[in-house]
Amino acid sequence: MKPSAPPKTYRVKSFGCQMNVYDGERMAELLGEQGIAPAPEGEEADLVILNTCHIREKAAEKVYSDIGRLVKSGEAAGKKPLIAVAGCVAQAEGEEIMARAPAVSIVVGPQAYHRLPVMLDKAVQGGRATDTDMPAIAKFDALPTRKKRAPAAFLTVQEGCDKFCTYCVVPYTRGAEISRPFSHLIVEAEKLVEAGAREITLLGQNVNAWSGEDDKGRSIGLDGLIRALAKIADLKRIRYTTSHPNDFTPGLIAAHGEVDKLMPYLHLPVQSGNNRILKAMNRQHTADDYLAILEQVRAARPDIALSGDFIVGFPGESEAEFADTLKIVDEVRYAACFSFKYSPRPGTPAATMDGQIAPEVMDERLQRLQSRIGHHQFAFNQASVGKTCTILIERKGRHEGQWIGKSPWLQSVWVEASAEIGDMIEVELAEAGPNSLKGVVKPRLVTAA
Ligand code: 5AD
Ligand code: SF4
Repeated sequence: MKPSAPPKTYRVKSFGCQMNVYDGERMAELLGEQGIAPAPEGEEADLVILNTCHIREKAAEKVYSDIGRLVKSGEAAGKKPLIAVAGCVAQAEGEEIMARAPAVSIVVGPQAYHRLPVMLDKAVQGGRATDTDMPAIAKFDALPTRKKRAPAAFLTVQEGCDKFCTYCVVPYTRGAEISRPFSHLIVEAEKLVEAGAREITLLGQNVNAWSGEDDKGRSIGLDGLIRALAKIADLKRIRYTTSHPNDFTPGLIAAHGEVDKLMPYLHLPVQSGNNRILKAMNRQHTADDYLAILEQVRAARPDIALSGDFIVGFPGESEAEFADTLKIVDEVRYAACFSFKYSPRPGTPAATMDGQIAPEVMDERLQRLQSRIGHHQFAFNQASVGKTCTILIERKGRHEGQWIGKSPWLQSVWVEASAEIGDMIEVELAEAGPNSLKGVVKPRLVTAA
């Protein structure tokens, strides 16, 4: 490749999970430190980072078509952007990307992006750079401190996964489970709060497997970390995602009843309601094990909103086995759920299992599942009407004077108020829709002195 001028502007396009959103923000901060600015809306950037997701569908194909599109739009604007592919597709298929897409200068895995500046230098000189090493803690140590933040921020506390569910690429793309050290997390959380964050969502592929030592050298789990973070005065809300049932501890369940700042929302995927399928998925728990945890969490925090992930059409899934998934959805009455058609991932055990399910069957099952999920979500929203709660304002609504915030139960609530982003206002939930609610600011009673 020919040498090019150092990039002045960048754009990071993140796909997939919240951990990718977090990584995308950190890459942006790193580029900011190098004097590279975000490209203004509607303008071609000098450097584009595709921060990819490999979890489902034709992830790699999508990356190649995105690259093709970038080259075309660059040509139309008379420039040739530097293209970097980051994230899990880079980790899984880095070499192939370099071979198939000459327009790509940089391939950088999720554990190596702290070395982007060096890679960028090489790319500017006309070279190509690939880095898919996995020294996870080194990455966090090398990143700059946190800058101005939105009121709701993400904080990666744990990365990687040792569970090896048979359908999942994460253990291969994100590597083994690691926990970031307690002191680093407290410092990063304090910085986020100083910069304006009022809510922090602790992230990890298996966030409840986080473990560490507190400032007194005591071994603690995620509940201990949550209790320590709750002491940061201006931090008002704490959430965490995603958890695995087998890493749920009594301490974490208790925290849901005891820590006011821990929001009443739990995302705990089960994937299927059928024990034979759970076994074939290597989930290492039964449907009843899962339900027992939810029962305890509900006992600790009766108003908790529950959410989960489901896969339909796992190889060999019969109609009766799928019916068990519908059954568990009805039993739990989730407030929200994510549901997916099984997608064979190269290199995972399930991809070569017998009994792959026809796409039409998967489509039909997904539709039925989503209709049950939608029913329970709407019912949860309707049951919230009449409650008074605080919402954290995150963005403007469609009309002047309208604002959108999140309830403690992670529902989107819109309200007419004189407010600004980051405000926490008390509202009465007045009307429910399937995906959001209308809040009304409670008039304050003013008593004459
Ligand atoms: N096919 C479909 N869904 C998947 N997930 C993970 N791997 C696959 C796959 N191969 C889903 C699971 C997981 C969520 C993040 O993505 O439900 O919890
Ligand atoms: Fe994937 Fe299973 Fe690990 Fe979740 S627990 S990241 S589904 S392997």
